[in-house]
Amino acid sequence: MSWLLAVAVLAGFAVGPAAATDHIVGANHGWNPNINYSLWSGNQTFYVGDLISFRYQKGTHNVFEVNETGYDNCTMAGVAGNWTSGKDFIPLPEARRYYFICGNGFCLQGMKVAITVHPSPHNASSEGSGRRGSTGSAGEEAAAAELGTKSAAWLGALAVAAAAVAFC
Ligand SMILES: *[C@@H]1O[C@H](CO)[C@@H](O)[C@H](O)[C@H]1NC(C)=O
Ligand SMILES: *[C@@H]1O[C@H](CO)[C@@H](O)[C@H](O)[C@H]1NC(C)=O
Ligand SMILES: *[C@@H]1O[C@H](CO)[C@@H](O)[C@H](O)[C@H]1NC(C)=O
Ligand SMILES: *[C@@H]1O[C@H](CO)[C@@H](O)[C@H](O)[C@H]1NC(C)=O
Ligand SMILES: *[C@@H]1O[C@H](CO)[C@@H](O)[C@H](O)[C@H]1NC(C)=O
Ligand SMILES: *[C@@H]1O[C@H](CO)[C@@H](O)[C@H](O)[C@H]1NC(C)=O
Repeated sequence: MSWLLAVAVLAGFAVGPAAATDHIVGANHGWNPNINYSLWSGNQTFYVGDLISFRYQKGTHNVFEVNETGYDNCTMAGVAGNWTSGKDFIPLPEARRYYFICGNGFCLQGMKVAITVHPSPHNASSEGSGRRGSTGSAGEEAAAAELGTKSAAWLGALAVAAAAVAFC
């Protein structure tokens, strides 16, 4: 009985610190033409360490990070990265403006989003300096974040299972 309790407590502890938010662009509308993404981004608060993720039909759309000129004019000005998987998790490691557009012409039909990332409200450097100093690629960080979410979910399920057994 007591070891079951210990498993549940440990699982709860492991789930706790996974605080990074995944902001899904367009929510259930995803990344598609003729959506006003200013309305979506205006309702989100982004912090350093969060993710922005784009869900779309692979091959039809894509994601390019550009600068403000590229965003305003739907061009590749200041291009800083591109993603094409159809389910792209993009880390937001800096407190600044980020600009994303669709790179195949659909930017002109509204597929552009600008966001402001704020410094972490609770000082991030006190909870693990590894991330801040990391030079790993965006893909690696995103993969790590996704893995973290999955293992957290698994541990959560384990906690529920342990609790269920405890009540039998
Ligand atoms: C999106 O909505 C905002 C707020 O209503 C508005 O100012 C802006 O012009 C809209 N953008 C487009 C492309 O319609
Ligand atoms: C946030 O969403 C609500 C409804 O979902 C909407 O009424 C409101 O205008 C949005 N706020 C901004 C800043 O876009
Ligand atoms: C791009 O947009 C900016 C405004 O942000 C404007 O000043 C500039 O002339 C535009 N450039 C082109 C090539 O359209
Ligand atoms: C964006 O990048 C282009 C090309 O590097 C540059 O000419 C332009 O000044 C940049 N715009 C801003 C707002 O930094
Ligand atoms: C997209 O990014 C890859 C590296 O991730 C780069 O090799 C490629 O040139 C980029 N494509 C464009 C069109 O910028
Ligand atoms: C966090 O605290 C360190 C010093 O402990 C400071 O150098 C850093 O700027 C702080 N970061 C933020 C986001 O407040």
